[in-house]
Amino acid sequence: MAEFSLPANSRYQDIPGRLHKAPPGATNVRSFRIYRFDPSSGEKPRLDRYEVDLAACGPMVLDALLKIKNEVDATLTFRRSCREGICGSCAMNIDGQNTLACTKAIAEVKGEVRIFPLPHMPVIKDLVPDLTNFYAQYAAVKPWLQTRTPAPPDRERLQSKEDQEKVDRPSACILCACCSTSCPSYWWNSDRYLGPAALLAAYRWIVDSRDEATGERLDELDDPFRLYRCHTIMNCTEACPKDLNPARAIAEIKKLLVERQH
Ligand code: SF4
Ligand code: SF4
Ligand code: FES
Repeated sequence: MAEFSLPANSRYQDIPGRLHKAPPGATNVRSFRIYRFDPSSGEKPRLDRYEVDLAACGPMVLDALLKIKNEVDATLTFRRSCREGICGSCAMNIDGQNTLACTKAIAEVKGEVRIFPLPHMPVIKDLVPDLTNFYAQYAAVKPWLQTRTPAPPDRERLQSKEDQEKVDRPSACILCACCSTSCPSYWWNSDRYLGPAALLAAYRWIVDSRDEATGERLDELDDPFRLYRCHTIMNCTEACPKDLNPARAIAEIKKLLVERQH
């Protein structure tokens, strides 16, 4: 059943959050409005405001979050690891867009920087969404090479340069979930629709010339919900911070399903 409202703990209260003023002597103050929610506190979600002196801060939104956590409020919780757009951990909604905090420059945002967790996901704490279902959907497409024939005894399974190019771009997905959490079909049917990230991964293995489970992979997706909930709205491709095109991959899977009927 489609759910048209946000998960209960994603809704914040329109009440004044806490204000953390910039230190005296700050010369380039910027305001950050950040979603705060700690389920163990029994309090409703709220938006706190932090004034950050950009004269003493790195250029990216993640730099500001780290500065806040290290110097102002250690309770602020978010994920991050690589700080260079590779691990996908720091995905969040900044200035109304799903993106990576480590590659989003503060200078790209006009006025107050508003930061929320990825939309329409249950929130574990502050900017940390629960990605359990998202990862389970990724696992469900069996994102590994499946073969029946034995590998050559003296070398790897080779593929041509052209065949490698087909999997090259989709393999660059960092599983940040920016795409799936920007997709309205996914918001409403994430229990049954796999979403653009998992479908991009499925596509990556369907078009891999070395894989020998193409038929089974297509069988698994030939379902009104798992695949066909995509209505080509394209939010996913727009949201991808790695410039990938999950919407096109989904369209290609649909095309392959049609072609194999003839
Ligand atoms: S193209 Fe499909 S997967 Fe992408 S946002 Fe639209 S409905 Fe979702
Ligand atoms: S396709 Fe792009 S937005 Fe989606 S999970 Fe992969 S890297 Fe993130
Ligand atoms: S910290 Fe790894 S992608 Fe941002």
